[in-house]
Amino acid sequence: MIQLPEDMLRIQEVIYDIKPDVIVETGVAHGGSLIFYASLCTAIGKGRVIGIDIEIRPHNRVAIEEHRLSPLISLVEGSSIDADIVQSVKDQIGAAETVLVLLDSNHLKDHVLAELEAYSPLVSPGSYIVACDGIMQQVVRAPRTAEDWTWNNPISAVNEFVANHPEFECVEPAWPFNEGKIIERVTYWPKAFLRRKV
Ligand SMILES: C[S@@+](CC[C@H](N)C(=O)[O-])C[C@H]1O[C@@H](n2cnc3c(N)ncnc32)[C@H](O)[C@@H]1O
Repeated sequence: MIQLPEDMLRIQEVIYDIKPDVIVETGVAHGGSLIFYASLCTAIGKGRVIGIDIEIRPHNRVAIEEHRLSPLISLVEGSSIDADIVQSVKDQIGAAETVLVLLDSNHLKDHVLAELEAYSPLVSPGSYIVACDGIMQQVVRAPRTAEDWTWNNPISAVNEFVANHPEFECVEPAWPFNEGKIIERVTYWPKAFLRRKV
């Protein structure tokens, strides 16, 4: 899993709250998050996971398909913004199903914006589409970063999307427990959660 553990604790709280029928994740890589989300579906007693990646490497596919939670996981190989790929994901989801979407593939602005446009219609009222890794805005000039990450990032996509989609709001989902005075969390996913209002 290529994630900050703190974000995984946060998303499991959100998933438990929403109890989605389907969790869609763009960007599979080794499949660690897919397995984690499938384990949450098992613990909750409902739900399944669809993972989309432009390249699912053979050893990763084997590891995912041999995992005991694989019956809950569907893999789709291709670009997450390719119209046929988007349609094949939509074809796997029923109209009445509750859906939560995580965008964790290519994090550049135009790609995330295209993913938001493509997958947001799937998101159920009260549920979320999560644009992961807005942290890239804050790490420019660290190794393996690019100068344009100051604007070419998921947060820019979120801002533009929300301006044109009043049915979504960028919010921090309510914390189920906070005994202290902390109002910000340690995260790689700042300004990531877009909640569908209606
Ligand atoms: C950050 S990794 C995903 C990590 C994974 N979600 C996890 O939690 O372990 C990003 C993945 O996005 C994939 N990717 C890059 N561009 C893509 C695209 N256009 N469509 C779908 N997947 C893409 C890469 O192949 C890579 O596996």
